[in-house]
Amino acid sequence: MSGIHAMLVHFPIAFWALASLMIIVGALMQGHWAQLAKAGLLPVLILGLLGGIAGMVSGWLVWPADANLYSPLTRNHLLMSFWAFGIYAVVTALVWRYRDLVFEGAFRWAMLVLALMGGLFFAISGTLGGHLAGSPTPFSDLLGAGGWTVYETFYVPDWVLVVILILAVASAVAGFTAKTRS
Ligand code: HEM
Repeated sequence: MSGIHAMLVHFPIAFWALASLMIIVGALMQGHWAQLAKAGLLPVLILGLLGGIAGMVSGWLVWPADANLYSPLTRNHLLMSFWAFGIYAVVTALVWRYRDLVFEGAFRWAMLVLALMGGLFFAISGTLGGHLAGSPTPFSDLLGAGGWTVYETFYVPDWVLVVILILAVASAVAGFTAKTRS
């Protein structure tokens, strides 16, 4: 199953990377490329979610469940995969429901934040997967510099909690302000 997982995870990684790029182009640019990015975004997101499901199911079957849950490295990999999946699921639901409106006004900044966060989380998941398969990358040193020793710790560094809190408050304020205006 290890080989199958390694093969299948290329699908969510590729589709989510493309989706984030399309959101950046759609939100920040005008003209032909922006139109193309907006028009193609939903199918790419749906394919990304299907790939994510395949990646998560196959990943869970690589090792016995006890081994998955015992190792902090695997738990970090699992957690980051779930976060990435959750973020792209929200992005897919928003694009499905609001179509091109997600690229209007303040909405597009929220989409940009989600796209960048999703990209960061699947990148972390991928690099931790590389560790599990015996191919670590220098990206983990970067995580270590941020206070996260991926081999040993299974926790969220304090500064991440502060960022989450600031984002939550900013989102609530932006939401209330927009509601009051309308
Ligand atoms: C969308 C979700 C996921 C992505 C993008 C992902 C990504 C990856 C990547 C890139 C690798 C390295 C493959 C290689 O170079 O051979 C890997 C390995 C691994 N992943 Fe995942 N993964 C996901 C979900 C999961 C889940 C839910 C589990 C369950 C615990 C899991 C467990 C593993 C294990 C055990 C390995 C090491 C395989 C080995 O020994 O060769 N993955 N993953």
